[in-house]
Amino acid sequence: MAALGGLAAAALLLLLLLLLLAVGLYCCYVRHVHAKYDHIPGAPRESFLLGHLPIIWRMMEKQELIHDLFLQWSEKYGPVIRFNAFHRVSVMILSPEGVKEFLMSPQYPKDPLVYGRIFNMFGVRFLGNGLVTDRNYEHWHKQRKVMDPAFSRTYLIGLMETFNEKAEELMEKLEEKADGKKEFSMLTMMSRVTLDVIAKIAFGLELNALSDDRTPFPHAVTMIMKGMTEMRIPFVKYMPGKQKMIKEARESLRLLRRVGKECIDQRREAIQSGKEDTLDILTQILKGDALEETRDDENMLDNFVTFFVAGHETTANQLSFTVMALAQHPEIMERVQAEVDEVLGAKRDISYEDLGKLKYLSQVLKESLRLYPPVPGTVRWTEKENVIEGVRIPANTTVIFSTYIMGRMERYFEDPLTFNPDRFSKDAPKPYYSYFPFSLGPRSCIGQVFAQMEAKVVMAKLLQRFEFQLVPGQSFKLLDSGTLRPLDGVMCKLKPRSLPKGFQA
Ligand code: HEM
Ligand SMILES: *[C@@H]1O[C@H](CO)[C@@H](O)[C@H](O)[C@H]1NC(C)=O
Repeated sequence: MAALGGLAAAALLLLLLLLLLAVGLYCCYVRHVHAKYDHIPGAPRESFLLGHLPIIWRMMEKQELIHDLFLQWSEKYGPVIRFNAFHRVSVMILSPEGVKEFLMSPQYPKDPLVYGRIFNMFGVRFLGNGLVTDRNYEHWHKQRKVMDPAFSRTYLIGLMETFNEKAEELMEKLEEKADGKKEFSMLTMMSRVTLDVIAKIAFGLELNALSDDRTPFPHAVTMIMKGMTEMRIPFVKYMPGKQKMIKEARESLRLLRRVGKECIDQRREAIQSGKEDTLDILTQILKGDALEETRDDENMLDNFVTFFVAGHETTANQLSFTVMALAQHPEIMERVQAEVDEVLGAKRDISYEDLGKLKYLSQVLKESLRLYPPVPGTVRWTEKENVIEGVRIPANTTVIFSTYIMGRMERYFEDPLTFNPDRFSKDAPKPYYSYFPFSLGPRSCIGQVFAQMEAKVVMAKLLQRFEFQLVPGQSFKLLDSGTLRPLDGVMCKLKPRSLPKGFQA
């Protein structure tokens, strides 16, 4: 008995020793990592193991934007800054030289850790190997080439009718609210219209998110976006308070993929029986699949989900930030309204030629993306050593780029916090690798032109028809929820404008 007890005690002691050894080794490894990166400027670490994490956690609790802290750091420590968390170091590069090197070249893949995290959501396949998250260059390149025709200029011009039709439905909904008293969230309304647009244009689906509050689909997309935010909380899977959200996010994702499957099967049939000749995104997804030897329905569904996620909230956020900025700047509002009146007059439908004439509106939308980029940045992985701004960046490092931070740095934009669309006037100097709301280079946004056509149609109609006022008392803070969006949803009151004579109602 005693021998057995002694044995157990010895085993326990051994275990304890091993544990101590492991902790010791891990600490040595962390020290080694520090030594490798400590020549890169950065804020003092708050803790040997946690690095800068406690600062982030405190900010998250107060609903403050972490990017604003990094902006302060960039001013204090220079354009190349280190960020420590346990044994991992990421390097933030806020320099045109670095942006050009890393984003313009195909040799730096997207960061496997950051993008790998959204392959699944709570155990259900999410963005998988879709176009945004694909980290394999060859596979990505094939997918991208196949999608391109659905984003060509000629194809997009043919979409003007759908942009007009859906934007007009939004105007009808807003007319019901425009009594100068009703308060509503502009973000909610914009999310619905952009959801209807992407569903219709990409997949031929009539979702009617604008007219029907209860269709399950928009709610599912909302829940998935919420899940995407919450899944960044460490150990969220194990928190009792979060189980309902997780269940709903999973179910929503399954619904989205199920609808995607139905859509794909129907379209396949239509194509096989020669009934379908649209070039929409779904057709391209199917063509892409047909080129592969192995049929991969899961990959097609990844793209179905990807286009919903990438093509809807981003544009909705841009539109509501733009409304917010305009309502805060009456003189800019007046000028852009005057341009819309001049170009559209009494016309109801907007043509592609009109879009080209709405020059100041384009500048307003660009300036909105400078201060309020819905996608704040992107992340790459470098397998080789680089020197940027004289700072050596070791091989095998995660490098972070931020258009949000660079867009607000004195170094690149004069008086950066002032909303001034004249920065983007024809004669002004072009920003040099310091402004990239759609990213740059091979992995830049495939939907950029699509999104800006859509945004212009919606904004032009809105400016033509309404005067808007912001409800006082809201914060105008930004919320980082996967995309950057207005925390309080841009609460508005609307009044109809007196329309020009002969307006074709
Ligand atoms: C204002 C609206 C939009 C903004 C600000 C925006 C921004 C971006 C950014 C920054 C990226 C690069 C992401 C990264 O590096 O991880 C990206 C990629 C992408 N976006 Fe957009 N986007 C917008 C609208 C759209 C729309 C409307 C669509 C679809 C119709 C779309 C589809 C995509 C896709 C598929 C990619 C991945 C491209 C690739 O890697 O080949 N986006 N977008
Ligand atoms: C980077 O990682 C690769 C693969 O893990 C490895 O072969 C290479 O030696 C590493 N380079 C450095 C400098 O650590």
